[in-house]
Amino acid sequence: MAKTLTIIEARALCKSFGATRAVDMLDLSILQGEIFGLVGPDGAGKTTVLRMLATILNPTSGHATVTGFDSVKQAESIKAHLGYMSQQFSLYGDLSVLENLNFFADIFGIKNKVRKQRIDRLLDFSRMRPFGTRRAAQLSGGRQKKLALACTLIHEPKILLLDEPTTGVDPVSRREFWDILTELHIAGTTIVVSIPYMDEAERCSRVGLMYRGRLLVCDTPNRIRKMVDGELLALHPENPQRAATLLKGQPGIIEIQTYGDKLHIFVDAAVMRGPEIIAHLAQAGMNCVGPWLAQPRMEEAFISLIGKQAEMTIGG
Ligand SMILES: Nc1ncnc2c1ncn2[C@@H]1O[C@H](COP(=O)(O)OP(=O)(O)OP(=O)(O)O)[C@@H](O)[C@H]1O
Ligand SMILES: [Mg+2]
Repeated sequence: MAKTLTIIEARALCKSFGATRAVDMLDLSILQGEIFGLVGPDGAGKTTVLRMLATILNPTSGHATVTGFDSVKQAESIKAHLGYMSQQFSLYGDLSVLENLNFFADIFGIKNKVRKQRIDRLLDFSRMRPFGTRRAAQLSGGRQKKLALACTLIHEPKILLLDEPTTGVDPVSRREFWDILTELHIAGTTIVVSIPYMDEAERCSRVGLMYRGRLLVCDTPNRIRKMVDGELLALHPENPQRAATLLKGQPGIIEIQTYGDKLHIFVDAAVMRGPEIIAHLAQAGMNCVGPWLAQPRMEEAFISLIGKQAEMTIGG
């Protein structure tokens, strides 16, 4: 990566809500110009991390800096550089698209000619121009998200913190939304985004996997894909649950994951284990389609890492 300036840094960052450790000893460095993805199951702590970085929430212990400023003591200095889009609906439903943009311009003190120019540009950039007079509440889910992003961009922040910006958005709008993020990324904006859909993690320069408040891994998509041992065989058995039980513990089988009616089986050597798997299931009277060799995605790596962590938690 050409740019190596650290723009966001968290050290031993913790946040507790009563007995819940929402974020637990988070260490994180995000470089200027990255698209950094935060993934993890519900309740993993993604929103809490973003809210602390956005200076909305103070940590229980540890500290974070954003553009070199302390997130607690110098929060006001950070805000000018930061755009935060919350997970919840953050617009004024009764106001039109244009009125919402003007409202956010008011908040950031953007006036006159500059305001007009920026709103004009954001309407084009977010593909929202045809909907200028429509009330926010009457926009589709995808357009509401695009408007929320446009409002977040009104003061031209150099860092964007986006909390699940594509949740509940249809696949076409998701793609458009990511095209917009890519344009911002190319223009040099640093983007930290929590991600509900695994395929979106592929678009990030680095991805952090959170689980129960902890950052389990933090690396490039390429390296994360390689974190599971063995080769991956995909298989369509007649009865996936029973097939998984039959295959568990068989020689050379490292790990079995269920994806709907498919099994993803990590083995030590696919060429040898493929025919063995078919034979073993046939012996139990079960037919299957496959197996065929597949490329591990980040999803397999995440499920494997979370599975191991859960076992350790139960075991320990
Ligand atoms: N204000 C709060 N008061 C009490 N508990 C909270 C509060 N905010 C978050 N939590 C708890 O902290 C943990 C982490 O929540 P957080 O919202 O950060 O997770 P998340 O990864 O964003 O989840 P999701 O994918 O559902 O949005 C959860 O157990 C949650 O219930
Ligand atoms: Mg959340």
